[in-house]
Amino acid sequence: MISKLFVKLCEIPWARKILWKSWYQFLAGKFPVENWTFMNYGYQPLDPNAPKLELSEADESDRYCIQLYHHVAMTAGTIEGKDVLEVGSGRGGGASYVCRYLKPNRIVGADFSKHAVDLANKRLGGGALSYVEGDAGNLPFEDASFDVVLNVESSHCYPSRPLFFAQVFRVLRPGGVLSIVDIFLDHELEETRKQLEESGLKIESAEDVSKNVLEGLKRDGARREAEIASHAPKSLAPVVKSFAGTEGSDVYNSIANGRLKYVLFKAVKPA
Ligand SMILES: C[S@@+](CC[C@H](N)C(=O)[O-])C[C@H]1O[C@@H](n2cnc3c(N)ncnc32)[C@H](O)[C@@H]1O
Repeated sequence: MISKLFVKLCEIPWARKILWKSWYQFLAGKFPVENWTFMNYGYQPLDPNAPKLELSEADESDRYCIQLYHHVAMTAGTIEGKDVLEVGSGRGGGASYVCRYLKPNRIVGADFSKHAVDLANKRLGGGALSYVEGDAGNLPFEDASFDVVLNVESSHCYPSRPLFFAQVFRVLRPGGVLSIVDIFLDHELEETRKQLEESGLKIESAEDVSKNVLEGLKRDGARREAEIASHAPKSLAPVVKSFAGTEGSDVYNSIANGRLKYVLFKAVKPA
């Protein structure tokens, strides 16, 4: 009931931003859980011969969320030595993975939740990695200051994707790349293609990874359920399960029946 009302109110663009900001501020402020650094649905390669991503033991519990970041970053191309921005970096796990394993020159995570940014800086920031408070519609960075922009499961919260794409175009250097993955309704997919092209970015690929995401959610289900059981108050558990996309939740069922598609776009700023 609460999650259905939330989804309904999110259809109003200005309300969407207020609601999502309150939600992520609440989560980071109320649940500063030490090992909770990812908030995405995860990804599993479907090819049984695909090489297994090598991770340290400490990162193993976040395998599926990390695999999503790995795929998004690999889609962008080379990360090593590049200046990378992640918009919607949340609790920081993704930017930390990219920094530690893929060796950019520097990576900045921007998020409009100050509590999430503070958590991420305290636990994970330092060296080539920092997190700053910033809104996707008004990014606090100089023009042409990044080679790559990553965006993972965040743009559905924005009141305007065109405003975000205009900001990405502004902060990317010529030849720079945006790699964005998110959940979309059918009509939003077509709109998003058009909005990307209208921003001046050129779409190089669009990949439907819904099946990979469902497989990731299945494999990660027991861990997600256990985390919810140990940290979420009983009254909030149904909402949190829906948010976490556990099997049987509205989000899981909508991806499984094709109402929602999980799609990864790569778009380039012409050189
Ligand atoms: C589902 S979480 C994903 C977080 C992270 N990318 C991950 O995969 O763990 C969505 C994130 O987008 C951020 N976000 C939503 N709207 C935003 C906006 N307008 N500007 C910046 N960040 C935003 C939220 O605060 C939240 O941290």
